[in-house]
Amino acid sequence: MTHIHELRSRLEAWPRFKYGSYPTPLEPLPNLTKQLAGPQLWIKRDDIIGPGMGGNKARKLEFLMAEAVEQGKDKVVTFGGLQSNHARMTAAACAPLGIEAHLFYFGPKPKDLRGNLLLNQLLGAKMHFVPFGGGNDGSLTIETTNRLVRMLATVRLGPGAYFIPVGGHSVLGCLGYVNAALEIHEQLSHLRLTNHPVTVVTAAGTGGTLAGLMAGFTLIGTRVKVLGIDIGKLWRAFPTAIARLAGDLCAALGETHQYRPEDTPVIENRYAGMGYARVSDDTLLAIKTVAQTEGIMLDPVYTGKAFAGVIDLIRKGRFGEDEHVVFLHTGGYPALWVDEDMFAV
Ligand SMILES: Cc1ncc(COP(=O)(O)O)c(C=O)c1O
Repeated sequence: MTHIHELRSRLEAWPRFKYGSYPTPLEPLPNLTKQLAGPQLWIKRDDIIGPGMGGNKARKLEFLMAEAVEQGKDKVVTFGGLQSNHARMTAAACAPLGIEAHLFYFGPKPKDLRGNLLLNQLLGAKMHFVPFGGGNDGSLTIETTNRLVRMLATVRLGPGAYFIPVGGHSVLGCLGYVNAALEIHEQLSHLRLTNHPVTVVTAAGTGGTLAGLMAGFTLIGTRVKVLGIDIGKLWRAFPTAIARLAGDLCAALGETHQYRPEDTPVIENRYAGMGYARVSDDTLLAIKTVAQTEGIMLDPVYTGKAFAGVIDLIRKGRFGEDEHVVFLHTGGYPALWVDEDMFAV
């Protein structure tokens, strides 16, 4: 166990840009708490940080972009699904630095560029649509996918670009969520909640946000629990990758912790519906419920699906009325403008 101040000073050893004003707000959700009649619900507003309309990738890009600049890179390469917020935020982080953002997508180029793709265009990013490969269907591990895409990008662009793994899923990027864990712990402590049962729930896409939170909470020895909700069935051996990353984060911060894949707090498949970016009625209902009770928007690809999971878990009695659930709002707004009929009745 490491004292929070010591851990913070270890984290400060890494060069970092600041893309937000911290701590991000931790707000109660009184109407939703009443309506769902379960645990006390809170929302942690990581949707409001970062470049180019924000989201959780801001905390990862703070470290990753600082390294790209330190290495004197003039090109950054990354990739993701068609509505990748990570790719859009990488484009936004590159723009003011005069760095070219190269975004790889695996699938044919859509007829209309909507949502995040439209914003990439506005930000001047170079989009590469490759009609095959890219994993994302559960057949490859994250590590293999990153390796393959990195090779492909090197063939296309030549060597020397700064490569950011899908979703910023690396030790360096996920230090950002170790930081977030410390921040949440301090906020809970001001609210005198650290001795209460608290679970922080996040959408899990590449699982880096979850791994960072796991490592952060373990390192400071808090009782706060974390739970990831898989939103896409994207990767083979997903819990193994998350467990490994959490262990590597602890090691990078000076402590040894082994996480077993079977103990990784992620609910796989159950709330992912038909797969990544395939929107189900439960997701739409969750988005509407949060919007119409609290005036807060979620997104259809990540947070809406994760919140549909929270609602179902509450209905099934997973959290008692004396418990607190902190939903991490990880952003994702641009995907609300992809299908104009999404909320039509
Ligand atoms: C809006 C949003 N929420 C959640 C996630 C999941 O984060 P992670 O990839 O760290 O699991 C992502 C990206 O994948 C995202 O864009």
